[in-house]
Amino acid sequence: MRLRRAPTQYKPVSRIAVGGMAEVWRGTATFEGGDEYPVAIKRVLPSITDPVFRAMFKDEARLGMTLRHPNIVPVYDARDIGGTYLMIMELVDGDSLKGLLDRAFEAGRPMPEPTALYIAQQLAAGLAYAHTAVDAQGQHMKIIHRDVSPHNLLLGKNGVVKLTDFGLADASDNSALGEGMIGGKFGYLAPEIVRQEPHGQAVDIFALGVILWEMLAGRRLFHGRDDAETVRKVAACEVPPLPAINPRVSQAVDELVRHTLQSQPVNRIPTAGDFADEAAALLARIDAEVGPKDVQLLMGLHSVMKARKSEARSAASLQEEMDVAHMLSAELDAFAAAQQGKTLELGAQPLDPNAFGIASLFSGSGVGPITPKR
Ligand SMILES: Nc1ncnc2c1ncn2[C@@H]1O[C@H](COP(=O)(O)OP(=O)(O)O)[C@@H](O)[C@H]1O
Ligand SMILES: [Mg+2]
Repeated sequence: MRLRRAPTQYKPVSRIAVGGMAEVWRGTATFEGGDEYPVAIKRVLPSITDPVFRAMFKDEARLGMTLRHPNIVPVYDARDIGGTYLMIMELVDGDSLKGLLDRAFEAGRPMPEPTALYIAQQLAAGLAYAHTAVDAQGQHMKIIHRDVSPHNLLLGKNGVVKLTDFGLADASDNSALGEGMIGGKFGYLAPEIVRQEPHGQAVDIFALGVILWEMLAGRRLFHGRDDAETVRKVAACEVPPLPAINPRVSQAVDELVRHTLQSQPVNRIPTAGDFADEAAALLARIDAEVGPKDVQLLMGLHSVMKARKSEARSAASLQEEMDVAHMLSAELDAFAAAQQGKTLELGAQPLDPNAFGIASLFSGSGVGPITPKR
């Protein structure tokens, strides 16, 4: 899918995150006439030359450009800039659920039940769509995300809940991920993966259950001192009843979580669509009003907490805290704007911010959009 007018340039503005393989930037897309719109730019680190990883990045870009759903981050464009792979996505201005949960875990504070269930319901809706998606030929793509985790669930200050990072996703037999390769974060793996059994889309549903449990408990579910211990805990699949940890969790929601966290996939809630429907029915009973505004509120509080860091929180009214969040985000925006003209450090090498400009890219040799595999 293309934007109606092609941007003439992409510019990185500030770095959001950097991992072992790629980094994600907040950036802008400039259009003819000079209009600028915010985008997120994911870039493979220059040190990554492994063809398997590069093929996986192409798979990720291809899937991201194909999938269109309110709960999935859309990829607009993918580029090969003289060997550097870029992916241009919608910028979700907010944080990952991990950013939010880290703080909640520190404080030992669970999320309110309606908000947690709403976030899980939105994630399930995105998964249900991906799991049933068909390609241009009408063939079921059999997508498995394989890395459903708080890192890859983005929450916007505007209240959106979107799944991203289809970097390990498996679309039927068209995946660069080799047989026997294990992806995903250990604490969110499904027991059948640890048992080295054949597995399918149910692994994503299990991860969804872990995420909901953690939001409601205010602590990690499967987390050992090292990866080996974490994996042992996943295999044992002991799930403490939520109401014993957080008395505000209702029996009905605990039952849904238990149905999702079954060790054997055959005992698990069958599809992400079933989960989304059940969660929606429960929400209608618990709090029919819950929705994007609750995520907005959560993100407002989160940015205040982030700014105050260790400062103890008073019992100030929510409205007061929201006002502070507003002020802080304006300050951050001004800071980002001031950075824009300067040379930015990209990985090890200082790079001209205009280096991502498309016009200059196409004047080079052999540069073009990444070609989808089929
Ligand atoms: N479209 C986006 N908008 C805003 N932040 C994003 C976006 N995509 C990724 N991020 C941030 O970057 C982090 C890593 O992105 P991800 O695509 O998951 O990369 P990786 O493959 O390294 O895990 C996310 O956890 C999130 O904080
Ligand atoms: Mg990720």
